[in-house]
Amino acid sequence: MKKVVYIYAKMLAVAAMVFPAILCLAACAEEQSEPVIEIPMLTPGPTPTFVPEPAETGNDAVLPLQNPVPSEEPITGIQPSGTPDISGEKLIALTFDDGPYGEVTNRILDVVEAYRDQNVHVTFFALGSQVDKFPKTVLRAKELGCEIANHTYDHKNLTKIPTQEMISQVEDAADLVEQITGERPKLVRPPYGAKNDDVYAAVKYPLILWNIDTLDWKTKDTDSTVAAALGAGDGDIVLMHDLRHETAAAVEKIVPQLLEQGYKLVTVSEMFEAKGIELTMGKSYRKAK
Ligand code: NI
Repeated sequence: MKKVVYIYAKMLAVAAMVFPAILCLAACAEEQSEPVIEIPMLTPGPTPTFVPEPAETGNDAVLPLQNPVPSEEPITGIQPSGTPDISGEKLIALTFDDGPYGEVTNRILDVVEAYRDQNVHVTFFALGSQVDKFPKTVLRAKELGCEIANHTYDHKNLTKIPTQEMISQVEDAADLVEQITGERPKLVRPPYGAKNDDVYAAVKYPLILWNIDTLDWKTKDTDSTVAAALGAGDGDIVLMHDLRHETAAAVEKIVPQLLEQGYKLVTVSEMFEAKGIELTMGKSYRKAK
């Protein structure tokens, strides 16, 4: 009998721990359209179907500090960021959140590199914690003319943390990217798209959201991700995640098809600049039109 009581007590204790967590997950998922996939990150880590490759080794952790990308001259002769004369063109910004993950992000960068003669650039809203693991990947993205933007250090919901933590979530990630690339991210995408007046006041960067949500994190399906992205038009910001190979496979199809339709694929900063829309802190943007 004692044992039965003990087991019941133990079950109650477990339930008491688990229920609030479930309620929180439900609340978070309900509040925002951004991935539930990201929430597990806060507990045991992300749950991609692939095994993330180990963090890069070698001297690359110190290399960028000693040798930041020169602003005048790209290391490999690759087109630097800044696409010539895109005013008047049809523009789309493909954006990738929650990475970098070496293998998936590099597969996306392979596509960018394959179409570099057409100045294909994408934007990564990177997590500081992942940047720390994959500095070489971040540097490669920068060298290919992609934009490294800020998705906070480790994906906290900014509306649920104190102001000082909000600031450190953003600035710690920015510091890390700047150490690696020599350039500080200019844009922030708040995790889950969650923002309120406190976030606007504390985060001294423009907040970039999206207007085309591929739901790649939810469907885990290449074809539906492709279909959603191909629904984009001039001035749109497309949300994807460099977490899964299904998304990288989608990018391999999306890029050539959008180019064929006459779109230029540019970074978020390039698109707003070309459209003559100034990005300012204290405001959020879902599209450039
Ligand atoms: Ni995210």
